Amino acid sequence: MIVAPSMLAADFANLAKDIDLVNSYADIIHLDIMDGVFVPNISYGTPLVETICKGATIPVEAHLMIVEPQKFFALYKSLGVGSISVHYEACNHLDRTVNKIKELGMKAGVAINPHTSVNLLEDIVRISDYILIMSVNPGYGGQRYIPYCTHKIVELKKIIEKNNPACLIEVDGGVTTGNIEEIANAGADVVVAGSAVFNAVDPAKAIKLLQGI
Ligand code: DX5
Ligand code: ZN
Repeated sequence: MIVAPSMLAADFANLAKDIDLVNSYADIIHLDIMDGVFVPNISYGTPLVETICKGATIPVEAHLMIVEPQKFFALYKSLGVGSISVHYEACNHLDRTVNKIKELGMKAGVAINPHTSVNLLEDIVRISDYILIMSVNPGYGGQRYIPYCTHKIVELKKIIEKNNPACLIEVDGGVTTGNIEEIANAGADVVVAGSAVFNAVDPAKAIKLLQGI
């Protein structure tokens, strides 16, 4: 399993320590960008994205939970972000938006809220590098995994196998060492984990446990 710790749960007063931790043990650094409009919360902005990118020795992905995400693509590329996911629900012209990310030389992901059916992705998976299934309602870390999301992973896997087997499935929200097996068995390739990593007594061990599935 590819593991992407969400820096939303990191200790911002000791950010360098947590960046070192993920560099040493994880596969991808996951940045949650929230605007207080698309989601009912604001996370962090460009200065922190820049700081984390400077310290990163593993790939950085940005999960944009914002309206008009295209405004930030070139900036994030210049800061060193390697992958960007945008929300299906936030983009009226998703094909154009996904292509814009790819044209800038980044990997493009499409994120969906728990209520959005994976059946709507049959066409966009053809040009997407990954689909991010939100398994909590976006906006906050530390929420519980929504059980019906497991069947979405299974259904999405079938759609991907038919239309673009290279497209990866990422699951984000409420992932723990207790449900990782269920999520892996359903067909996930990548998991995002915030509190399960940074609130663990031994974060390095938590990452290894999630990877080991
Ligand atoms: C929620 C974010 C998630 C979240 C993950 O809006 O997209 O990445 O922070 O945190 P945990 O693992 O604590 O659910
Ligand atoms: Zn996220």
